[in-house]
Amino acid sequence: AVTVYPNQKEAVAKVAQRIAGVIRNKQQNNQNAVLGLATGVTPIGVYNELIRLHKEEGLSFQNVITFNLDEYYPMQPGAAQSYVRFMNEQLFDHIDINRNNIHIPDGTLSLDAIPAFCLDYEKKITAAGGLDLQILGIGRTGHIGFNEPGSAPNSGTRLVTLDDLTRSDAARDFGGKENVPTKAITMGIGTIFKAREIILMAWSKKKAPIIKKAVEGEISGEVPATYLQLSDHVEFVLDEDAASLLT
Ligand code: F6R
Repeated sequence: AVTVYPNQKEAVAKVAQRIAGVIRNKQQNNQNAVLGLATGVTPIGVYNELIRLHKEEGLSFQNVITFNLDEYYPMQPGAAQSYVRFMNEQLFDHIDINRNNIHIPDGTLSLDAIPAFCLDYEKKITAAGGLDLQILGIGRTGHIGFNEPGSAPNSGTRLVTLDDLTRSDAARDFGGKENVPTKAITMGIGTIFKAREIILMAWSKKKAPIIKKAVEGEISGEVPATYLQLSDHVEFVLDEDAASLLT
């Protein structure tokens, strides 16, 4: 499904309400809510709204377990560009989540420790009960998580090589493309697909061409987000700018 909102603010409020709904629903049944989270510019508004719901409307995150999509490799958690730091600053430091319930791929591992870590990440998601809701942004390559063109639809959590365009888009954060890591650890397309609900968000004209391909283009590993067309529990949540090239 594709839902277009007049602006980002309205879209963000709706997505935050959906997340809060999952959390409250689980609370009523004394269950954990398992959320798949993204970093980047796209979800910041949603995180701000979740913080507001926590501070002003009593939304508690004590029953929430989170799994982030990805982390650069190598990456120290304290580095300015780390997704650990991003998540702390944009969300976790401002809510009542139990720190033990937070999972983010580990950018500090030695290369030979990565496969076991990735298998364990998958096992932890399963042991938590599976992802109730996965939030996604989309890269200009069509990546979801860091599943770049060529990713297999059944891929799991693994070490990947970042696309050149993705590294160009990250250059500003790293003070030059040469400083952007060439690799990342990401949940796979298969991992994402197992989520019971998936919301892909995109804002602004800059995302319009890739959104057109993702929503209307031929399903292909060349644009990994096109695989989302195969699922009926995916919603593309767009502002008018991101949707502007859709027919
Ligand atoms: C981030 C992630 C990426 C981003 C995508 C869009 O965890 O998995 O797929 O969602 O690169 O990034 P922004 O939102 O910065 O445009």
